[in-house]
Amino acid sequence: MSEQLIIALSKGRILNDTLPLLAAAGIEPVDDPERSRKLVLDTSRPEVKLVVLRATDVPTYVQYGAADLGVAGKDVLMEHGGADLYEPLDLGIARCRLMVAGFPEAQHRPGTLRVATKFVNITRRYFAEQGRQIETIKLYGSMELAPIAGLADLIVDLVDTGRTLEANGLVPLEHIADISSRMVVNRASMKLKHRPIKEFLARLQQSLAQD
Ligand code: ATP
Ligand code: PRP
Repeated sequence: MSEQLIIALSKGRILNDTLPLLAAAGIEPVDDPERSRKLVLDTSRPEVKLVVLRATDVPTYVQYGAADLGVAGKDVLMEHGGADLYEPLDLGIARCRLMVAGFPEAQHRPGTLRVATKFVNITRRYFAEQGRQIETIKLYGSMELAPIAGLADLIVDLVDTGRTLEANGLVPLEHIADISSRMVVNRASMKLKHRPIKEFLARLQQSLAQD
């Protein structure tokens, strides 16, 4: 019997863009992942199973080897830290930018700035590297509200079209990183299941090149 591969996918926005890439690499879920209540999904290849997780849980599953491979945004990977993960492939999907944003000139306010974000690790690293002292406030969503409500001076959030910022009177102020989704692989799986993983990555790369 060939070795089993478990691939962790991020629910939500990334899932819609990931499924066609997997299909082009010959892997299609038997049940619709958006509708099924199953947590482990069979695919058109008996040795490949999918697990559909919250985006932020994908690196954790792959780090501990509970999944061999996973698809996650670079933002989520940077925040996680990337321990025990290989990142062999940029899938080029869910592109956006990680930015510091706020009211115009808010970054020049005197004193210690308060920065609201879901990405506290990235934010601390970014400001520390520049020797700027800040206080972070952890939020789980709707970051754009924080400056409006007076909770924070700045936010660190994802920006795509810029419409959410604009609709709330905010502007992008500083660029932290370009973001897209990546395929990550558990380090031990890469050694122990080298052949099936290499073959899968090669098929995926081929289908990306044809896009
Ligand atoms: P969770 O529900 O676990 O908090 P989430 O709501 O952040 O996750 P999504 O909104 O589906 O999940 O975003 C998943 C990923 O999609 C992000 O990690 C990022 O890489 C990318 N992404 C988020 N917002 C955008 C956007 N506006 N444009 C393009 N890509 C985005
Ligand atoms: C993301 C992000 C911004 C918005 C940016 O939120 O957190 O709020 O997209 O996109 P834009 O620049 O095109 O307006 P999302 O829509 O995923 O909602 P969320 O806050 O529930 O994650």
